[in-house]
Amino acid sequence: MRVLAIETSCDETAFAVLEGRKVLAAEVASSSQEHAAYGGVVPEMASRFHGEVFLSLLRRTLQKSRTTPQKIDLICATGGPGLLGSILVGVSCAKSLAIAWKKPLVFVDHVLAHGYSGIWETDLKDPYPFVSLVVSGGHTVLLEWRAPDRVVELGGTIDDAAGEAFDKVAKILGYGYPGGPLIEKAAKRGDARAHDFPRPLKNRPDYQMSFSGLKTAVLYRARDMAKGGRLSNKDRASLAASFQEAACEVLVFKALKALREKKARALVVGGGVSANGRLRAMFGELAKPEDGPILFPSKELCSDNAVMIAAYGACLYARQKNKKTAYFSETAMRFTPYTEFSTPPPGVKFLK
Ligand code: KG4
Ligand code: ZN
Repeated sequence: MRVLAIETSCDETAFAVLEGRKVLAAEVASSSQEHAAYGGVVPEMASRFHGEVFLSLLRRTLQKSRTTPQKIDLICATGGPGLLGSILVGVSCAKSLAIAWKKPLVFVDHVLAHGYSGIWETDLKDPYPFVSLVVSGGHTVLLEWRAPDRVVELGGTIDDAAGEAFDKVAKILGYGYPGGPLIEKAAKRGDARAHDFPRPLKNRPDYQMSFSGLKTAVLYRARDMAKGGRLSNKDRASLAASFQEAACEVLVFKALKALREKKARALVVGGGVSANGRLRAMFGELAKPEDGPILFPSKELCSDNAVMIAAYGACLYARQKNKKTAYFSETAMRFTPYTEFSTPPPGVKFLK
């Protein structure tokens, strides 16, 4: 089955064509540098960018994968959560393509797609139940998967997402945007034990997390050390390393707790922050052999991409009973984008 997928939830416009498990083309265009001057994504600029590049990038994806519209069996698109204007571009274009080409259309939840991508890349025969930690710029959640369309939200951040905290700390330390990779790079030159930053909510018995207080702790420490002047490069690097250590420790601790308490068969880490080398290494240090596999997506699948949308969408479509009517389905055509993760996407049940 050949699947065309569209992802436009934030500042990346992405397309992918998959044939079964094979990726025939995966294209990403990012407006990230346009937002750099503002220190974060400007929603209006992001949606305009999607509109500008949509058709040319779609054409390139189809050419690279040698795909004509006739060959496409299914269209998948991100339906939420994310920036409303951005998703609206992808959703409207996906509906237009489905109508023009008479194809079935499935809307996919972006966060769930991040959480599923590591499983899709492995050959685990029966991975359910598995737990996934999704750590991105907009979300930090722990999910327990009983089936592809039956998911429990175990907990997550009560304030900033982990990626957002990386971005804000990078801004405080003057590293620029997007902050995650820049903090990781700087941390390699710093001393992670220089500052004993708080590990918020780490020892609370639930799966809640918090990163806002940690970010503020870095801000106050940096201000104290600078004393109105400038911080040395060494001091900035040690603040970055100590912050990264604290943030990763909370993520790893809570994710392993969920894996063990839910007796899950695997743990999947996904989203932009899952590219972080220290986070990956810490999982290696703190996991026990009996914990089972800890799966990280390949680097291209960590940040926003359309391969994960195709993979998860195709999986949901395979479970739909009445496939012939999917194109005419009221659900697909009346679908409107959503911005909150807690809105169940079509075809998926959030269990208690
Ligand atoms: O999943 P993603 O590409 O977009 C969202 O859905 O939000 O995640 C982007 C986030 C940004 O906050 C970025 O700073 C963070 O992921 N990130 C990282 C790294 N690479 C990206 N954070 C820490 N270390 C990294 N290497
Ligand atoms: Zn994402």
